[in-house]
Amino acid sequence: LGVHWYPGHMAKAKRILREQLKLVDVAVEVLDARIPTSSQNPDLDLMLGGRPRILVLNKADLAEKEETRAWLAYYRGEGKKAVAVDAVRRTGANILTRYLFQSAGRQKAGRIGHSLLSKSVRVMVVGIPNVGKSSLINCLVRRTRAKTAAQPGVTRGPQWIRIEKGLELLDTPGLLWPRFTSPETGFHLAITGAISDRVYDWGEMAAYLIRYLQEYREGLLAKQYGLENDFGQEEELLKVLARKWGFLQTGGITDTEKAALRLLQDFRQGKLGRITLEKAPR
Ligand code: G4P
Repeated sequence: LGVHWYPGHMAKAKRILREQLKLVDVAVEVLDARIPTSSQNPDLDLMLGGRPRILVLNKADLAEKEETRAWLAYYRGEGKKAVAVDAVRRTGANILTRYLFQSAGRQKAGRIGHSLLSKSVRVMVVGIPNVGKSSLINCLVRRTRAKTAAQPGVTRGPQWIRIEKGLELLDTPGLLWPRFTSPETGFHLAITGAISDRVYDWGEMAAYLIRYLQEYREGLLAKQYGLENDFGQEEELLKVLARKWGFLQTGGITDTEKAALRLLQDFRQGKLGRITLEKAPR
C-alpha cells in the first residue's frame, strides 16, 4: 500500500503485465466490490488480446449484498462471467474455479479441438493495488493445500501452483495501475485504500465519505457513533467526533485530522457496515 504512480511506473507495470499475460489461458481481474467501476482498468482489455477473463468482485463482505447482486446481473447482461468473493473468508472460490475451467475450455476447445483436460489451464490474477490479489491467490491455493510445482529458490521466474487437477495458477499477481477518470474515482480509490494516503489528505477523504453517507445512508453515522444526528458540515461533524474520541490538541483544540483517519479506518475495516460506493447500472 502507498504506491505512488508515475508514468515510468505505469510503463514498467504495463510491460511486465504484457509478458505475464502471454503465459496464461485465462485472467482473473480482481475488482473491489465497493467500487467496481473505479477499480477496473480498461487498459487491460487491449492487453488481454482476446483471452478470456473472469471478473471477481472481491471484498464482497464489505459491500452491500443487493448492490453486489445487481453488479453480477449487470456483468451477466454484458456477457461477462463474474463472481462475488471474500478472499479472506474464502467464499466464492468454488464458483471461480468452475468458471475458470469453463472459460478456458471454450477457448482451448476452439484452439486444439480435443479434450479440455489434455493440458492444464493456466491462470493469473490481475488488479490494481490492495484489491486483494495476493489474498485471492492464497485463498485458491490454501483451498486445496496444493504444493507448488517447483521448489522455491531453485527455479527463477514465474512459478506455477497447481490448485487442482488441470488448473495452474501463476504465483505472483499482475499489477494494474489505477486510472483517475474523474475526481470521484480518485476519492473512491483513496477511501478504499487502493491509492496512497498522500494523494488526498485524510480530511478531504473523510469529508467526501461523510457527504456520501449523508446523502445515501442518512443516519448511519449518527447510529454508529451515538450522535444526535449526522447532518451539517463535514468539518463540524469531524469536530464532534474528535471531541467524542478525545482527540484534542494542546489548548483543547479538536484534532480533526485524527478523527478523519479514524473514520476512514472504520470504513476500511467494515466497522460502518457494508457500504457500496458505486451502484450498478440498472
Ligand atoms: P493486493 O495483493 O491486491 O495488493 O491486496 P492484498 O491481498 O494484500 O489485500 C489487501 C488488503 O485487503 C489486506 O488487508 C487483505 O487482508 C484485505 N482483503 C483482501 N481480500 C479481502 C476480502 O475479500 N475481504 C476483506 N474484508 N478484506 C480483504 P491488510 O492485510 O489489513 O492490509 P492493509 O489493508 O493494511 O493494507
